[in-house]
Amino acid sequence: MKELYRRGLIAMGIAGILMLGTNPAIADEKKQKEKSEDEIGIRKETLYDESKVMPQHGEYGKEEPGKSKRIERAFENSPPLIPHDLTGMLPIAETNNSCLNCHMPEHAKSLGATALPKSHFVDMDTGLDLKGNLDGKRYNCMQCHVPQVNIPEPIKNQFKADFRSKKSRTSSDLLDTLNEGVTAE
Ligand code: HEC
Ligand code: HEC
Repeated sequence: MKELYRRGLIAMGIAGILMLGTNPAIADEKKQKEKSEDEIGIRKETLYDESKVMPQHGEYGKEEPGKSKRIERAFENSPPLIPHDLTGMLPIAETNNSCLNCHMPEHAKSLGATALPKSHFVDMDTGLDLKGNLDGKRYNCMQCHVPQVNIPEPIKNQFKADFRSKKSRTSSDLLDTLNEGVTAE
């Protein structure tokens, strides 16, 4: 009996909410807040005409390697952004990958470049140590590392990265920390 009474109350509550929804005053207010088709996109232009609206491109950094300023990591162990000019380095071809000339560990230090991290010399699928050979899946650097342009974002990015150490803001250690908290049996 008590249970039935409770159900009745719930049903009345739901009916009340439904009635609110059809209240003409509230419906009117809703209508006023509706946006026109020209307002619903990120750009404030008509969505039906592409001829006048041009995407913003901005310019890539022109500083040559050795003169550019490293960009703070977006989050811990994110692939670092490329801070320097890439003129003459692209495309990365099967027989020519100029990134390696400066970023292979044996060259990097003397050139002031960041050396490829340990993770790039391990097959991350199997855990196999490739003994100093670059994993083929890492050959196309630009698949993960990209340059940046400085243009205002249409929607402010609210993301705030949590770095666990000061060092992780400027360098990566994925291979050492990948299995943190994992206990293999
Ligand atoms: C002529 C040497 C040279 C070449 C070629 C080169 N780099 Fe660099 N790279 C550097 C140096 C030096 C830095 C450090 C920033 C500086 O001093 O300009 C750097 C920085 C970077 C960084 C940032 C590292 C960090 O710690 O934040 C990335 C990512 C990068 N390069 C990727 C590439 C990729 C991808 C290519 C190939 C398309 C490439 N580089 C080609 C020398 C080079
Ligand atoms: C599949 C994606 C991927 C590819 C391809 C790739 N990287 Fe990375 N790279 C990463 C990620 C993710 C990190 C950061 C985490 C880590 O240590 O592995 C990283 C880190 C780096 C770092 C920073 C090392 C440090 O000590 O802070 C350099 C330099 C770098 N990569 C250069 C390159 C170059 C040059 C190539 C091409 C030969 C390349 N990467 C290919 C994903 C990639």
